[in-house]
Amino acid sequence: MDYKNLIVEKSDKICKISFNRPKALNALNTEVLEELDKLLDEIEKDDETFVVVFTGEGKAFVAGADIGEMKDKNLIEGKKFAQLGHKVFRKIELLEKPVIAAVNGYALGGGCELAMSCDIRIAGEKAKFGQPEVGLGITPGFGGTQRLSRLVGSAKAKELIFTADTISAQEAEKIGLVNKVVSQEELIRETMNMANKIATKGQVAVRFSKNAINRGIETDIDTALDIEINLFGMCFATEDQKEGMKAFTEKRKAEFKNK
Ligand code: CAA
Repeated sequence: MDYKNLIVEKSDKICKISFNRPKALNALNTEVLEELDKLLDEIEKDDETFVVVFTGEGKAFVAGADIGEMKDKNLIEGKKFAQLGHKVFRKIELLEKPVIAAVNGYALGGGCELAMSCDIRIAGEKAKFGQPEVGLGITPGFGGTQRLSRLVGSAKAKELIFTADTISAQEAEKIGLVNKVVSQEELIRETMNMANKIATKGQVAVRFSKNAINRGIETDIDTALDIEINLFGMCFATEDQKEGMKAFTEKRKAEFKNK
């Protein structure tokens, strides 16, 4: 399927998705969100995609939800727009496959929220992060109040959201919002290297690990440990576990079938 606002490139088990509305700094309107929703359904079913990478065309990753589209919305329409954003971002978070954000520039408002829905964030040194919504008279609406506080703690999340400050990639790394900062030139290569490394591992185990971390972090420790015990046990019903351990004892590289 062709997408108007997204560039989709698939190679070597990695699907790279670039937001492609550079004139509007890749702002998220209903059309972009609906395209992304469809693409995520496609990717979930695509056995040839193991890892997903998001990035942006031009100087922004995503500069937020589209202010032009939002400005005349009423209560019902505002809520509906938030529901659409939440539906799509939760789909990213719950996607079985790992998702990495290669944050090349502005990741503000909905853009920061999108990056936070991904499993891993790698930032170019010129990337900027922030939740500027209160300066527009609104709260974050695509998960910022919840995911930012889970990632960096409620005190730092409140500071960033209440002040609407924009922070540098280096500051974002310091507070744990991004995994690492690399040069702009190296951003895509570094991200693809990480994606490739993940793609060579046993994918059932990678997906179970994502599932265990996501579900475990939202519950009490005993329930969380049970989640791990069950998924660990289920690994022993896979061919990958047999192959992974056989390869180790035979001192060779495992050839995973991902089943
Ligand atoms: N929505 C719509 N259009 C946007 C946009 C957004 N979020 N961000 C940038 N644009 C547009 C600008 O209107 C401008 O369009 P025109 O050329 O037609 O005027 C174009 O992108 C380039 O932007 P600037 O000229 O402003 O570029 P700059 O380099 O001077 O500034 C910037 C860059 C600091 C990121 C600035 O564009 C900016 O502050 N953007 C808005 C950021 C923001 O507030 N994001 C949060 C949105 S609300 C939200 O996301 C709610 C939610 O949680 C769901």
